[in-house]
Amino acid sequence: MTHRELSPGKLVIASHNAGKVREIRALLAPYGIEPVSAGDLGLPEPEETGTTFRDNALLKAHASASASGLPALADDSGLEVAALGGRPGVYTADWAERQPYEGEPGRDWYMAMGKVEGLLAEQGPDADRSACFVCTLALAWPDGHAEVFEGRAEGSLTWPPRGILGFGYDPVFVPIGNSLTYAEISPEEKHATSHRADAFAKLVAGVF
Ligand code: IMP
Repeated sequence: MTHRELSPGKLVIASHNAGKVREIRALLAPYGIEPVSAGDLGLPEPEETGTTFRDNALLKAHASASASGLPALADDSGLEVAALGGRPGVYTADWAERQPYEGEPGRDWYMAMGKVEGLLAEQGPDADRSACFVCTLALAWPDGHAEVFEGRAEGSLTWPPRGILGFGYDPVFVPIGNSLTYAEISPEEKHATSHRADAFAKLVAGVF
């Protein structure tokens, strides 16, 4: 399949998640791209109304590309737990949504990881703990053209959470072939095997 090439220059990272923006910046560093985040440009954050990673990634990339007049890259990602029929999936971030505290909504990752663990515990000590992180990248241009790339990282879930690096569900995810969680290994090591790195490798092969 032929993909449209991405020329060096400004690229909007269509995310308001600081952890993701940091990882995407690091991954783009070698390609002559000047990443600017949707947050820095004050672009609105569209509602993620899709039911697949692909739909949500496309929705975010198209919204930023048309609002900024620049190519825009969006990432939709999440955790799929085999024994939970692929949940939380596209609702991975929603599972961390907590009651507003002093009027401010917020996310509680420990609560979200505990929710996954609670559902696995209901299946008893022999529950299948395999899980995978999925990352779908959508690159959209202001003229409406888009390219989509999907990456995966297989692993298993551990409890209790371990480590202080990374973000989101990193402290409970042990990538296959490792005994440490994503929150216990360096960002460099995580980037070598992660779902986001896998999707990026496909993007780089396709558009640079
Ligand atoms: P969304 O793509 O903004 O809908 O959010 C996906 C959610 O999946 C994130 O907020 C994280 O909680 C989780 N997630 C995605 N990638 C990672 C990762 O690399 N480590 C830990 N959690 C992740």
